[in-house]
Amino acid sequence: MQIPNYEAARKRSKEQVAIKKFKLDKKYQNLGVQKTYYLKTYGCQMNEHDSENIKGMLKAMDFQETFDMEQADIILLNTCSIRENAHNKAFGMLGRIKHLKALKPNVIVGLCGCMAQEVGVIEEIKKKYRFLNFVFGTHNIDDLPKLLYQSLQNKNLNIEVFSKEGDIVEDIPVNRESKYKAYVNIIYGCDKFCTYCIVPYTRGKQRSRRKEDILKEVKDLVRDGYQEVTLLGQNVNAYGKDLYNDYELADLLLDISKTNIPRIRFLTSHPWDFTDKLIEVIKNHDNILNFVHLPIQSGSNRILKLMGRRYTRELYKELYDKLRMIPNISITTDIIVGFPGETEEDFQDTLDIVNYCKFDSAFTFIYSKRENTPAIRLKDDITITEKEKRLYRLNDLINKYSLETNLKMVGKVYNVLVEGFSNKEGMLFGYTETNKLVNFQGNEAKIGSIQPVKILEAKSFSLDGVAIE
Ligand code: SAH
Ligand code: SF4
Ligand code: F3S
Repeated sequence: MQIPNYEAARKRSKEQVAIKKFKLDKKYQNLGVQKTYYLKTYGCQMNEHDSENIKGMLKAMDFQETFDMEQADIILLNTCSIRENAHNKAFGMLGRIKHLKALKPNVIVGLCGCMAQEVGVIEEIKKKYRFLNFVFGTHNIDDLPKLLYQSLQNKNLNIEVFSKEGDIVEDIPVNRESKYKAYVNIIYGCDKFCTYCIVPYTRGKQRSRRKEDILKEVKDLVRDGYQEVTLLGQNVNAYGKDLYNDYELADLLLDISKTNIPRIRFLTSHPWDFTDKLIEVIKNHDNILNFVHLPIQSGSNRILKLMGRRYTRELYKELYDKLRMIPNISITTDIIVGFPGETEEDFQDTLDIVNYCKFDSAFTFIYSKRENTPAIRLKDDITITEKEKRLYRLNDLINKYSLETNLKMVGKVYNVLVEGFSNKEGMLFGYTETNKLVNFQGNEAKIGSIQPVKILEAKSFSLDGVAIE
């Protein structure tokens, strides 16, 4: 049994992290014969990609996936800690599974992901959810085969969560959701420690993957016919800083651009590490898409300081203006309302910067208190009703600008990576280079390729169009 510890999770040393290579032990290879698993994933792209690795390992052990939880021999929850509602959803699910387990005592239940790294969650599991078979954290997903093996032998709750700066594990099998677009991790963890955020504790130290490992993965994807890669990290702009003296995200993008993969995206950018070289590289290479997700969080300098974001609204605007010089660029953001002590004036500063930036779209959130983060100690005397009102007001403004930018696209032709049949009858769907969802009439033979589409109608969250042959 190994339980999480925040002091250890906070530690950051200069030491190089270990790089391990995954290998499936022979004794686990047939563990899944005639057995099914159900996997539920919460949270960000990082977790979605971890789930692709989890599925890859399960497939290598011969397990079959089922989408019916009640039929499954193994149930796994890959959880997220970012806000309280992500927590509540996972605990709600555990409640349902508890009933199921009473009826089917042999079903094996595992929990992993960011919640597993939380001290309070583990305490609650030990008290209320002892029916779980195993828990593992974000640092040891490669332990899944071993933990499954042990659970099939022995029904006691086994908790294996490490709070450490983190390793890098290469060569974990992967079972990707899409045949056309793929996630590729380039940097793990986060060292920014924004005061509201739990990620630096759940994901460990910022650590870059070696460029040769990333390039090999992308080259293999090109060989397999993939059209798009999204390079993933909590702060991709910090890529290379912990590993190389003179090789940054801009250099990595240049090298990946040379593989001729048609589309390269990267997520998420922190304004702090955005270099001019990176802006140039985005501008000058067609397959590096003109799309930047640049979370601002707040437009008030006072709140940005309390959040520990390390930039001011003026610096953000300066960077924003430089990025807007790139023709047809799409810029999206994340914003938190109701941070402790946020006054109406602070909130007005946020609305003001939204009016300035006219973001293509934004994810907006009400501040959520997270265990062990510094912001939890700040006095928070704004009522939830007031916070909700601010969120509605902000969303109205964001949606207005989303619609405005989308309306400008009507009548023009954009390249869309066609992903499949749309929910709208008789239509296909895909995304533009700037990541806008398009439903359109076209030929299904084009699924998996890039198709020019003329936009006929715009809404706040999607576009309608028709394929141009
Ligand atoms: N690494 C990324 C964001 C990761 S989390 C970055 O720094 O930009 C995704 C978003 O969740 C954040 O941008 C933030 O807007 C939101 N978020 C994080 N912690 C939160 C909290 N405690 N309450 C509300 N929203 C939060
Ligand atoms: Fe969280 Fe800040 Fe790191 Fe983003 S940069 S993951 S918000 S601590
Ligand atoms: Fe959630 Fe962890 Fe991602 S907290 S947002 S799953 S890094």
